[in-house]
Amino acid sequence: MTAIIIDGKARGLALRTTVAAGVAEFAAAHGRAPGLSVVLVGQDPASAVYVRMKGVATREAGMVSAEHILPAETSEPELLALIAALNADPTVDGILVQLPLPRHIDTDRVLAAVDPAKDVDGFHPINVGKLSAGLDALVPCTPAGCLLLILEALGDISGKEALVIGRSNIVGKPMAALLLAKSATVTIAHSRTRDLAAHVARAEIVVAAVGVAGLVKGEWIRPGACVIDVGTNRVTGADGKARLVGDIEFEPARARAGWITPVPGGVGPMTIAGLLANTLQAAKARVS
Ligand code: GUN
Repeated sequence: MTAIIIDGKARGLALRTTVAAGVAEFAAAHGRAPGLSVVLVGQDPASAVYVRMKGVATREAGMVSAEHILPAETSEPELLALIAALNADPTVDGILVQLPLPRHIDTDRVLAAVDPAKDVDGFHPINVGKLSAGLDALVPCTPAGCLLLILEALGDISGKEALVIGRSNIVGKPMAALLLAKSATVTIAHSRTRDLAAHVARAEIVVAAVGVAGLVKGEWIRPGACVIDVGTNRVTGADGKARLVGDIEFEPARARAGWITPVPGGVGPMTIAGLLANTLQAAKARVS
C-alpha cells in the first residue's frame, strides 16, 4: 500500500477561503472586521517568523491584525498591563501570546490573564477545562487542524484506536481530548512510555507531536493507518543542507499507511487556518 498524501496546504487554503467569506459577512453585519492581536516578547527568530505569517494571513482573510512586538526585557507586569488593555478593547476579538515567553515571565499567569472569550489559542484554563468536559470552547489551533484532516480522511472515527504521541498542553493533551470527543479509543504515549512500537502497531490513527526527528519508525505503522505528523525538526542532510523533517520516518511510513501528512505542507498550514477560524468564532460569539 502507498499512502494518500494529505495536502495540508490545499486544505488550509480552503479553510482560509471559508473563513474569509465568514469575515466578509461579519463585517457587513457589524460594521467592522474581526480583530486579532498577537503579542511577541523578545527576538526568538522562529517566533518572529510565525508572528509575521499570522499577521499576513489575518489581513488576507479580511481581518484587522495588530502585532505587539515587545523587547525581551519586558517585565511581567508590563505584559499583563498590555493584556488587560487588549481584554478591554471592544475591537479586539482574539488575543494570542506567542510562546515561548522569556524565562523571567510566568507563562501560566500570562495565559490565565487573557479573557477566555478572546483566547484564540485555547490555552486559558477555562477553555482547557471546557474542552476536557466536552463543552463548546475555543480549541488549540494545531490539534483542531489535525482533527479536520483525520475526519476528512476517515469519516466517522468512533471506536477507532488512536495514538497520540506527546503530552504537551499545546498539541498532545488537546488532541487526545478532541479524539475522545469523537469517540475514538485514545492512548497517549510520552517519553516514559514502554514499547512505543507496540502502541503504534495497534493504532488506526497516529498523531506524533514530540519534536524528535524520525522517532516513529515506518515499519511500526499499522497498514492503512491515518498518520499525522506534527513534528517540525530541522536536520542537516547528507548533502550538508538543512531541511525540515517530522517525528515519523516519512518514506517507510508512507509505504504502509493509508493516509499521511508530509512535513512541511501537512499540519503546518492548518494551524494558521485554525487560528483564523478561531478568531472569527470568537468575534461571532462576542457579538451574539
Ligand atoms: N508556539 C508554538 N506553537 C504555538 C501556538 O500554537 N500558539 C502560541 N501562542 N505559541 C506557540
